[in-house]
Amino acid sequence: MPVGFTINGKAASVDVEPDTPLLWVVREHLKLTGTKFGCGSGLCGACTVHVDGKAVRSCQTSMSEVAGKTVTTIEGLSPSSTHPLQKAWIAEQVPQCGYCQSGQIMQAAELLAKTKKPTRDQIVAHMDGNICRCGTYPRIVRAIERAAREA
Ligand code: FES
Ligand code: FES
Repeated sequence: MPVGFTINGKAASVDVEPDTPLLWVVREHLKLTGTKFGCGSGLCGACTVHVDGKAVRSCQTSMSEVAGKTVTTIEGLSPSSTHPLQKAWIAEQVPQCGYCQSGQIMQAAELLAKTKKPTRDQIVAHMDGNICRCGTYPRIVRAIERAAREA
């Protein structure tokens, strides 16, 4: 059944079963491979994208929930990769292997969209569900603080 939605500012329609996860459509149909498959169970955050501005786990979001909505992936966060978080991520040299990082940035972007100057506690609480096996957590917090300062 065709499901219509908007992704990174463009209209899209995919012919999939309604319970197909958004992550599959993003990666396999639309070839937007910045969003990663980690656990597939809603436990790691590697697959985080925005649906109508809210950070969601795309592995746990079915296409029936996405119909008519607006999806943003890491590729659409900023047309020129100059979102304050992307600049801060580079300045703080956050990534190690990189696998979790697009999910981290999308999760953080939701926070800064709502709370321009978050406290350290707010940052830690908001990022709590995004796992980094490389342990880049201190740099993630520093980069979010920098982005909040410099935005
Ligand atoms: S892949 Fe979706 S939460 Fe881990
Ligand atoms: S940078 Fe390797 S999992 Fe986070």
